[in-house]
Amino acid sequence: MTAAVKVLDLFGGAGGAALGLEMAGFTTMSVERDGLASKVARLAGLDSIEADINNVRKLGDGNLRARVWWASPPCQPFSTSGKRKGADDERDGFPLVFAALDEARRIDPAACQWLIIEQVVGVLQHRSKSGCRRGVDPKPGACPGCYFKWNILPELDRRFRYVEARTLLAADYGVPQKRKRVFIVCGPAPFRWPEATHAEKSTGDLLPWVTVGEALPHLVESCDAIRHEGGQAQARPLDMPAPTVGTKGTLFTASTTEGAWVSGDRNASKNRMRVIGAGRNPQSKALAHTRKFRDISDEPSPTVCAVSVGNRGPWSVSEKQVNGEWVQLQKRRLLPRELGVLQGFPADYPWQGNISQRHRQVGNAVPPRMAEVLGRALMPELTYLKQDRMSVDSSTGMS
Ligand SMILES: C[S@@+](CC[C@H](N)C(=O)[O-])C[C@H]1O[C@@H](n2cnc3c(N)ncnc32)[C@H](O)[C@@H]1O
Ligand SMILES: [Zn+2]
Repeated sequence: MTAAVKVLDLFGGAGGAALGLEMAGFTTMSVERDGLASKVARLAGLDSIEADINNVRKLGDGNLRARVWWASPPCQPFSTSGKRKGADDERDGFPLVFAALDEARRIDPAACQWLIIEQVVGVLQHRSKSGCRRGVDPKPGACPGCYFKWNILPELDRRFRYVEARTLLAADYGVPQKRKRVFIVCGPAPFRWPEATHAEKSTGDLLPWVTVGEALPHLVESCDAIRHEGGQAQARPLDMPAPTVGTKGTLFTASTTEGAWVSGDRNASKNRMRVIGAGRNPQSKALAHTRKFRDISDEPSPTVCAVSVGNRGPWSVSEKQVNGEWVQLQKRRLLPRELGVLQGFPADYPWQGNISQRHRQVGNAVPPRMAEVLGRALMPELTYLKQDRMSVDSSTGMS
């Protein structure tokens, strides 16, 4: 059996990308600064070094020599839920990727022949406050869209013959989530992008999108089973007359009041769970109660975020049938491990820490399936590396 091709995974987090790449047949070595996230990856059986990518030497020559790299730099400088200062944000991870890449190729010119970068869609979008006038007056220092066009792409073009960025929707690849991310594939030759396997409606060879209800079948069980995760209470009371749920598109206003569970009729013969979520983010805590949710049980989840702000969902709602009508009993936020399932992780993935730490690990992750389909699409391009890889493996101790 030939050894698997190794991937150096920068900004590895809790291991979403690495898990998917392993499923595609690669071996991975991840680098992650956050000790807890790195520990999650190790507990999941992945190789993760706790190190700061600023310190390139810490990555180790054997790892830097890897022919395939993955990088998921932090999204805060580009995300539409932040200030979007792009290159002016000190958390910008692109310069670290370029520095590590240059150092690796100084050690071994054949290092990093293929690089896949994952980023939020905001990296492509201009920021009106920067005054760039949608790129007419480029401001690469203050606008993500200008930074991408005038800095990131040219930097990649200098280092790779082929560079292409595409926005992919995770639901189109069987992830139960409408998560859109930009993937930038860089290499020595054109990349054959993976075809979608799913669509909103099943047509031809395409399967229908996987829904929240299908991904979380255990939600049909009572929500009493899980009250705590990461040490904090999850349940919130219903402090308003319980509206009827069950009709697709029904709107709700969620309560932000902290408190104990509202006790429902636990013995009711017909209980069920639905999931509510989506709705426009009111951007301010004071306006949180204005957020409108809808029943999302029968569609893929909205994007799973790294922070749980205000009353942002999704929520699970338990209902019972009274006189033929479904009436809400209880409501709680989805737990990190349930959100993990909506990202495509196994339900028992070893998330660590308190609830916000777990939330961050889950929401930061690349859905493993996305890394897997991109990794599988890359495999045929790597056959020419085989001979080379074997000699590199034996000379550097890479496994
Ligand atoms: C978008 S998340 C990565 C998610 C990960 N690829 C996954 O699939 O689970 C970005 C990660 O970069 C880490 N990070 C940020 N700056 C770093 C640095 N200088 N060195 C190492 N890790 C860093 C953060 O702690 C965070 O976990
Ligand atoms: Zn711009």
